[in-house]
Amino acid sequence: MKIFLDTANLESIRKFNDMGLLDGITTNPSLMSKEGGNPKDIMEEITKIIKGDVSLEVVSTEYSGMIEEGKRLRQYGKNVVVKVPMTPDGLKACKHLTSEGIPVNVTLIFSPNQALLAAKSGAKYVSPFIGRLDDIGKDGMNLIKDIKKIFDNYKDDFKTQILVASIRHPIHVIDAAKIGAHVVTLPPTVLDKMLQHPLTDIGLENFLSDWKKLKAGI
Ligand code: E4P
Repeated sequence: MKIFLDTANLESIRKFNDMGLLDGITTNPSLMSKEGGNPKDIMEEITKIIKGDVSLEVVSTEYSGMIEEGKRLRQYGKNVVVKVPMTPDGLKACKHLTSEGIPVNVTLIFSPNQALLAAKSGAKYVSPFIGRLDDIGKDGMNLIKDIKKIFDNYKDDFKTQILVASIRHPIHVIDAAKIGAHVVTLPPTVLDKMLQHPLTDIGLENFLSDWKKLKAGI
């Protein structure tokens, strides 16, 4: 399973990239706004740090604006994937950009039918938002199961990857991996939690204090 980081924070991106954990990045207008500064500089820098796919989102809501913005975003790097919303104009833009060789991530997916239609439009990724479904009392992971089943049924027709988004905690990651989702995009806080285990800390502390008793170097 590929791991993307869901952030525009350069410090976090560098931190996890230096550990060799990142296959890509996803951003959205809210994440960009959280960082402040000049979004263009940040977007360009991300595409330089990360070799894999970097999703940058359009803010236009109509077709021609999405195409124009998508082409501009793509100039930040060859690894840019243009993120468009799951709307009729978004799907039209997805089809057009894809036909020009620009990969597209269709975002704000909340139903299996939306995922099916985005795949039909040629999306490289669909982004189902599981945490936001959990927030309203639905089981977000069921959506991932349904999409996986549908895409598997038609794997000769669809090459679209399921990019599990709106992840809130490490259990979401384990469940997505069990289902066989292609990608998870994680907030830095979730990736931090995945790294940790109290027994690792205690074990290391014990190893080091035992070694000190030897009063020797390595
Ligand atoms: C995905 O690409 C989105 O950026 C993100 O996962 C949304 O997550 P949120 O529901 O925590 O805002």
